Amino acid sequence: MTGRQLILILSDIHYASKAEKQRGWREADFIDNPLLRFGVKAYRHLIWRKDPFAHNYLLDRFLERTGGADYVLANGDYSCDTAFIGLSDDASYESARECVTKLRQKAGAKLHLTIGDHELGKTSLFGGQGGMRLASWWRTRQQLGLSDFWTLEVGWYVLVGVTSSLLALPVYAPETLAEEREEWRQLRSGHIDQLDKTFAHLKPKQKVVLFCHDPTALPFLLRIQNVSSRVDRIQATVIGHLHSEFFMLNSRILSGMPTVHFLGTSIRRMSAALREARCWKQFHVRLCPALAGIQLLKDGGYLTLELDRDAAQPPQICRHRLAWDM
Ligand SMILES: [Fe+2]
Repeated sequence: MTGRQLILILSDIHYASKAEKQRGWREADFIDNPLLRFGVKAYRHLIWRKDPFAHNYLLDRFLERTGGADYVLANGDYSCDTAFIGLSDDASYESARECVTKLRQKAGAKLHLTIGDHELGKTSLFGGQGGMRLASWWRTRQQLGLSDFWTLEVGWYVLVGVTSSLLALPVYAPETLAEEREEWRQLRSGHIDQLDKTFAHLKPKQKVVLFCHDPTALPFLLRIQNVSSRVDRIQATVIGHLHSEFFMLNSRILSGMPTVHFLGTSIRRMSAALREARCWKQFHVRLCPALAGIQLLKDGGYLTLELDRDAAQPPQICRHRLAWDM
């Protein structure tokens, strides 16, 4: 094993199975206000993703480049989540299963996966459909075989994969079912204990690279005693979720804004995240873009992370583009 280790990172693949393609993108169907419906359709069409089902081929293109990698890390969001309830929906599960199977076939034991918000379910924009479901949690863990928390030692580095939706549960809780809320809280409590212990047991020379899908979780990490006292050990935090540097830049500009409570669940969640975004600096946040990026910029791609096993050099992170077929 050489002194430098090469890690390929991808995120927000949003793979589309045949069943999800057949169902289609129904988000706007649940918005009553015609002006708002038009606005959301225009936003999806021009800025976010005109055809959310058209980019499966980028996963194959990424996989062609994994030959020299020591590890491959996928940072969450494997399906299109077109039912908004995560992987308890069969069509969404089929998307995630196809996606993760392709990754496993190519990367095998080198592969590590984190859980994104869309594995668990997420309320639709303005339409109020869906949300986090425990059935999706258990299917993601037991059927898809994803761990909610993992560590990987690479020389003096400890790579830590967390589940951002659990850590940020105080923000996501309104999207859960009332009868499931207590179990979510218990899951979160166990997750926090694992993280606390991992940071408490770090050896003096060990550094950390964190993998956390949604940056909304970061302020909550600072409330965990041994993470907070050792936050200087975190040399990089790889996030996904924002899909593009365009939204990363806007998040930095809007950091500290007040939480907006009167425009529905999605806007409340997003503004609550931005309110505390100033703390991202301490985590040395790097965005892994969505594999396809966004419609406006077609700026998809992936990251390479080079680690010096002796941790004598800081982690080297580079961004690589994946071009769309036109
Ligand atoms: Fe995503």
